[in-house]
Amino acid sequence: MSDQQQLMKRRVAAAALEFLEDGMILGVGTGSTVNALLDQLGPWVGRVRGAVSSSEGSSIRLRSLGIPVLDLNDVEELGLYIDGADESNARLQLIKGGGAALTREKIVAAAARTFVCIADETKLVGTLGRFPLPVEVIPMARALVARQLAGLGGRPVHRAGVVTDNGNHILDVHGLAIEDPLSLESAINQIAGVVTVGLFARRPADVLLLGTADGVRRITA
Ligand code: A5P
Repeated sequence: MSDQQQLMKRRVAAAALEFLEDGMILGVGTGSTVNALLDQLGPWVGRVRGAVSSSEGSSIRLRSLGIPVLDLNDVEELGLYIDGADESNARLQLIKGGGAALTREKIVAAAARTFVCIADETKLVGTLGRFPLPVEVIPMARALVARQLAGLGGRPVHRAGVVTDNGNHILDVHGLAIEDPLSLESAINQIAGVVTVGLFARRPADVLLLGTADGVRRITA
């Protein structure tokens, strides 16, 4: 990663922290942009009540900072969720799951009052689908789901060697131009064996912070 990219990630992460308030429980996503956020969470130790994490990797980093990692079942309100994305459209509908954490990410996003997405400006697209759409599947259903995804017009590729934190497999669906994200999310959710599709249309982000060479650009839903 170039110094410029690293700087942009640091800046959007800092801008996202402006949404954090004392006493909140923070939802923490996964990926290199979130890692830039974790690097800046030190001053919040003791000020936030804890965090709900979307991956084992982020949980390890949170614990090493001294921030309690809470079970979502024990949390009554998740004030803020901060996470990256692989793509966003102008309506803040996202493709996520490049880091294979999509299922827990979708759960945390669903539980959060406010979802702030942090990314660099290259992630903003007119039509979602240039980034292959990740789909988490139950291992025994992988080939069955792949055939049905092909029937929807995509080219599913098994992400070899990857097992998710939930013990499942990932299919990355290439060649989709997602004109109607809500309908496609529903259609893929209907396929037996699908755990989660990495299309966040039903629950998009509330705020998108984009790192640019000139600073942070903010888009609100
Ligand atoms: C993890 O599964 C993904 O949804 C990440 O949020 C996404 O891949 C963004 O990662 P980067 O911040 O590393 O680009």
